[in-house]
Amino acid sequence: MYKRSFYLATCITACVLILSQCIGRKEDPRGDAFAGDATCSSCHPSAYAAHQHTAHAFASAPAGGHSVLGSFIAPNNSFLFPGNVVVRMEQNKNRYYQSAYANGQLQEQATFDITIGQGRKAQTYLSWHDGKYFQLPLSWFRPVNNWANSPGFPATYPYYKREIASSCFGCHSSYVQYETRFEGVRKTESFRENKVVFGITCERCHGPAQEHVAFHLQHPDEKSAHNITRIGQFTRQQQVDMCAVCHAGLKTPQRDLFEFRPGDRLSDYIMADYFATPAEQSANDVHGRQYQLLTASKCFRMSNTMTCTTCHDPHQDQRTDLTAYTKKCMSCHQPGTANFCTSKEDIKVLQQQCVNCHMPEQPSSVITLLAGGQQQPIADSLRSHLIKIYR
Ligand code: HEC
Ligand code: HEC
Ligand code: HEC
Ligand code: HEC
Ligand code: HEC
Ligand code: HEC
Ligand code: HEC
Repeated sequence: MYKRSFYLATCITACVLILSQCIGRKEDPRGDAFAGDATCSSCHPSAYAAHQHTAHAFASAPAGGHSVLGSFIAPNNSFLFPGNVVVRMEQNKNRYYQSAYANGQLQEQATFDITIGQGRKAQTYLSWHDGKYFQLPLSWFRPVNNWANSPGFPATYPYYKREIASSCFGCHSSYVQYETRFEGVRKTESFRENKVVFGITCERCHGPAQEHVAFHLQHPDEKSAHNITRIGQFTRQQQVDMCAVCHAGLKTPQRDLFEFRPGDRLSDYIMADYFATPAEQSANDVHGRQYQLLTASKCFRMSNTMTCTTCHDPHQDQRTDLTAYTKKCMSCHQPGTANFCTSKEDIKVLQQQCVNCHMPEQPSSVITLLAGGQQQPIADSLRSHLIKIYR
């Protein structure tokens, strides 16, 4: 009798546990092979915690009060176009809008749905309407800490019709659900609302990891990794390719970038001749070509070991700590050896500033911006990944 109720109790407990697991795990729009970032936190707490503060984590987000960097408070909540047309940021309950008024009359309006960019230089916004994403006419720019016309938009009136392609999400998110249709040769994409995995997540770089998670949940004492790609065993080209998929500037992919898995060859996704373009810093826009510039540098060509992760820890926010990068330079360029700096500067200056002299910030010829009524264009600048002697 006691035995039976014991079995019954165990059985019920087991069922509840299994059920709660099913309910607890939110459906991942990428499919069952993906576990989701939150799952990684239990076994990789430090990588998980650090990653939350990186540019990758903020590369895209649902647009809400905190994720939108620009102001909704007057007088910093508007932008004036010629002809007394003003675009104003407005909030109504939990919805945020960019509304265009001509002589006080509402002309056009769209919601903030998605933010693109952590806002190191700029943040731009997408609005979903009837299966399409449109970029809002105004973006927020850090150099002026204000709203201004989105890059490449007409300067004389607010433009609400710029459609955004899936390739934008290919670099700024981990997944977007969409369908492609052809009308003759014309390709159109139609998006499902809110079917986005925001930010560059763990599995965007590491590949689907549900089998890895399942294995280690079942074998908690196993200390070596199972069912996950080992980046450490890649060739140098494979290691650099998994960053270059998003860090080689804007290009038209031949295949969906969401299908790219660590270890894949980038040349199977993007036509190789794209990478043959001369590595000129002047060809840069905000979408910098770190891959082309770095691989053209002597440091890269004459060492067999340099990759992006020689200097960057993909799980850490390393911004503004330039001395940390100096240490990386000096792992190959040691004082007192023939490979050290030949500048006559004091060694203390040299040690603090390798990056400023050999990877200077250079003005971009492509991005200039006009802010709220101001007529002075401000040139954007980018850190050059062409490591060399600048005179
Ligand atoms: C139940 C525990 C567990 C969970 C959950 C888990 N991992 Fe792991 N993972 C491990 C163990 C154990 C190792 C081997 C020891 C180590 O490298 O930390 C490992 C190693 C790794 C490695 C290193 C592989 C290599 O090169 O050796 C990566 C990458 C990784 N996990 C990614 C992930 C990602 C991404 C997630 C979330 C989707 C995740 N893990 C969730 C247990 C787990
Ligand atoms: C799926 C696309 C994608 C992949 C893959 C990717 N990145 Fe990024 N990365 C981005 C985007 C987008 C940003 C800019 C985010 C922003 O500023 O809003 C970024 C920003 C960065 C930054 C600037 C950080 C900062 O503080 O501003 C560094 C450094 C970087 N990535 C390095 C890497 C390295 C190294 C790899 C490979 C291990 C890599 N990325 C792989 C998309 C990607
Ligand atoms: C090939 C990958 C790629 C594509 C496609 C791409 N981006 Fe980016 N984007 C990046 C990377 C990488 C950065 C970080 C800047 C850098 O490279 O120095 C960035 C930076 C930005 C920034 C500035 C972020 C900041 O923190 O200052 C904005 C805004 C932005 N992108 C918007 C867009 C929009 C809108 C689209 C689509 C129309 C788009 N991007 C398409 C990779 C991409
Ligand atoms: C931008 C791409 C990128 C993202 C995003 C990313 N990783 Fe990694 N991860 C890498 C690379 C590249 C390596 C290999 C590092 C090296 O070469 O030193 C790595 C190594 C690892 C390792 C093994 C070595 C170590 O540092 O412990 C683990 C575990 C890991 N990642 C887990 C995660 C988890 C968990 C997340 C999400 C919270 C994550 N990664 C997000 C690129 C990424
Ligand atoms: C993985 C090793 C490695 C790292 C890390 C490294 N370099 Fe180099 N670098 C080299 C090699 C190898 C050469 C070629 C030396 C030669 O000409 O024999 C080189 C060449 C150079 C040159 C001369 C370039 C020219 O065109 O004449 C400069 C300047 C330089 N490095 C600066 C730096 C700076 C600054 C850093 C850090 C941001 C750095 N390096 C990081 C390996 C490295
Ligand atoms: C020799 C060291 C070194 C290597 C190798 C390297 N970077 Fe960087 N990277 C830097 C430094 C230094 C900065 C400036 C950081 C800052 O200003 O906080 C930087 C900045 C960046 C940024 C921010 C853009 C900007 O304009 O500030 C991105 C994105 C980036 N790196 C991506 C990459 C990618 C992708 C690779 C591999 C193709 C790579 N880096 C290889 C040293 C390096
Ligand atoms: C104040 C600017 C400045 C700083 C800081 C600086 N360099 Fe240099 N570096 C130069 C100049 C200029 C040259 C060329 C000197 C000459 O030969 O006329 C040079 C030359 C070099 C060379 C080429 C040597 C050769 O074989 O021709 C290397 C490598 C190098 N620097 C590495 C570094 C490293 C590593 C650091 C940081 C520890 C550093 N530099 C800091 C300005 C600087």
